Amino acid sequence: MSITTQSELLGMQAVSQAVGITLKQMREHARPGMSTLELDEYGGRLLAGLGARSAPRVTYGFPGWTCISLNHEIAHGVPCADVILREGDLVNIDVSAELNGYFGDNGGSFVLGQDRRNLQPLVAASQRSLLKAIGQVRGGVKIADIGRIIESEAKRSGFRVIRNLVGHGIGRSLHEAPHEIPCYYDRYNAARFRKNAVVAIETFVSTKALYATEKGDGWTYVTADGSFVAQHEHTIVVTDAQPLILTAANGIG
Ligand code: CO
Ligand code: CO
Repeated sequence: MSITTQSELLGMQAVSQAVGITLKQMREHARPGMSTLELDEYGGRLLAGLGARSAPRVTYGFPGWTCISLNHEIAHGVPCADVILREGDLVNIDVSAELNGYFGDNGGSFVLGQDRRNLQPLVAASQRSLLKAIGQVRGGVKIADIGRIIESEAKRSGFRVIRNLVGHGIGRSLHEAPHEIPCYYDRYNAARFRKNAVVAIETFVSTKALYATEKGDGWTYVTADGSFVAQHEHTIVVTDAQPLILTAANGIG
C-alpha cells in the first residue's frame, strides 16, 4: 500500500509493533527441549493479547500462528509437537499479522544456545545485508539495486542468496505489489521503489543452495542439498531519505 493519511501510518505502526514485539519475545522464549508447537502457541497468545490475528492463517489457512523453520528449512515451517528445538539449531521465526485491517511482517534467524555448527557468521551476514539494503531504499531507487546490495554483502562473507524467495509489498494484505523484491540482482527487473510505499524487505542468505524447494507438506521450503539459510525481514515505509523501519521493535537493528 501507499501511505496517504496519518491514520494509515498509525495503523501500519500498530500492527508492525505487534509483530515486532511478538518476534522478539518468541526468540527470548525459545529453549532447547521445547517443541516448535509450544513456541508457536506462545506466539499465538502474544498476538492475541495485542489484538492481532495471524496473517498466514487468515490469508492462506496456514496451520500455525507463526512460521518456525529449523536448519535446512528456509521458510513457512509448520509448528509441530514432534519437532523439538535443540542446542545449536538454526531457528527462523517469521511473524506476520493483521490488526484493524493493516498487515505487518517480520522475521529473523538465530542460533539457539551454543553455536555448535558455527552458524553465527551466516546469521550475522544476513542481518548485516538487510540493514545495509534498507539503508539504501529511497523513492526512485531500483528494486534490482537493493537485491544487488544483499547479494554482494552475502558474497563478501562467502555466502550466496536464494533466488526464488522474495520480499514484497504489504499493507492492506500480506502480499501486495510490488510482488517481487528479490535478494539478488535481477537485470530484467526495472521496477523502482515509490515514496510512501510500504514494503517488506527480506534476505535469504545461504551457505550453498541457490533455490528453495517445497518439502512435500504443502508449506515448508527447504534446501535440497541440506545447506543452511538465514532470513531477516523488516516492514518499512519508503521515503525521500532513510526509510521508516516499522518493525524495529523486533530488535534486529
Ligand atoms: Co514477508
Ligand atoms: Co515474513
